[in-house]
Amino acid sequence: MKKVGFIGWRGMVGSVLMDRMLSENDFFRMESYFFSTSQKGNAAPKVTNGHQTLMSALETKELLKMDILVSCQGGDYTQEMFPQLRKDGWKGIWIDAASTLRMKDDSVIVLDPVNRHHIREALHKGVTNFVGGNCTVSLLLIALHGLFKENLVEWVSSMTYQAASGAGAKNMIELLDQMRSVGNRFGQNPAMEALDLERQMATLITEGSFPKTNFGHPLALNILPWIDSEMPNGQSKEEWKAQVEANKILQTTTMIPMDGTCVRVGALRCHSQGLTIKLKKSAQLATVEELIRSANPWVELVPNNKADTLAKLTPAAVSGKMHVPIGRLRPMTMGGDFFNAFTVGDQLLWGAAEPLRCVLRMALE
Ligand code: HSE
Repeated sequence: MKKVGFIGWRGMVGSVLMDRMLSENDFFRMESYFFSTSQKGNAAPKVTNGHQTLMSALETKELLKMDILVSCQGGDYTQEMFPQLRKDGWKGIWIDAASTLRMKDDSVIVLDPVNRHHIREALHKGVTNFVGGNCTVSLLLIALHGLFKENLVEWVSSMTYQAASGAGAKNMIELLDQMRSVGNRFGQNPAMEALDLERQMATLITEGSFPKTNFGHPLALNILPWIDSEMPNGQSKEEWKAQVEANKILQTTTMIPMDGTCVRVGALRCHSQGLTIKLKKSAQLATVEELIRSANPWVELVPNNKADTLAKLTPAAVSGKMHVPIGRLRPMTMGGDFFNAFTVGDQLLWGAAEPLRCVLRMALE
């Protein structure tokens, strides 16, 4: 049985990965070792074929004994430890949630429903670095897989509505803290007129005492149209990732342009995206619907009507779910080669943990 080491398994992506592995009985297929940056020697989580004590994630000694390492510890950890392990001659398979190695030539961005064959081929050829994609990119590709498969897409513009979870667990809690502050202030004046309340709230969210250590700004009663760092061309790094990562996953020979504005909104763990899709030629709505619907087991086409949209195509409806719904699909007034769509996906499942679980399963086969 292969030895698999897990690093960062207690964080948000790591915990979701552990849950999914337990529900799919994955631990039967490997010997598991749990690593920690701070609690070496403590009891490890009890799983089938699991080593009982935690080992140090900050020394290479035990890590080097693993056949496969799965890291959800974050980019700084990868930056620090991955080169050391390779320098010390470690030839095992590195599976990572962080973006650090995504665009390196010797790594494959994994997204099982879309590039399973490529992953399999890469494993066969001896590739050893596998990295999960950016969450919005992965969710967009699962939703539009049918159109990419047919090579129908000329370009896509995606306007995102990204949940607090994408910024980390502390940010999720901060959003809830912000909401509590709003609720408390409202509780003091429930009988006020709407415009008076709005003035009170507008003041509250800009007060120094409003909780915003992590976001730096109010997200409750607000949206934040910048995610990640600044790129020299005016894009945010989150916006930059869409085109480069999607084209790498799709292994395109001619770059498909993808661009838009990435926006943080007050949802907790599901990312949504409003899409403008430019096809290479006009297509019938029914054809586009069928291509999208039948592309993979996870995409779900939501009929373009108000009732189904509001019941099935929202972060509230999708939280904790594996399927990736896409709806609001219709030709646009610009012409028969332009389609409008809206998609939502759980940022922690297919957006982060699930692609890692799938490549781990394949690496164990
Ligand atoms: N960069 C994403 C976000 C996290 O900020 O929402 C998942 O890749």
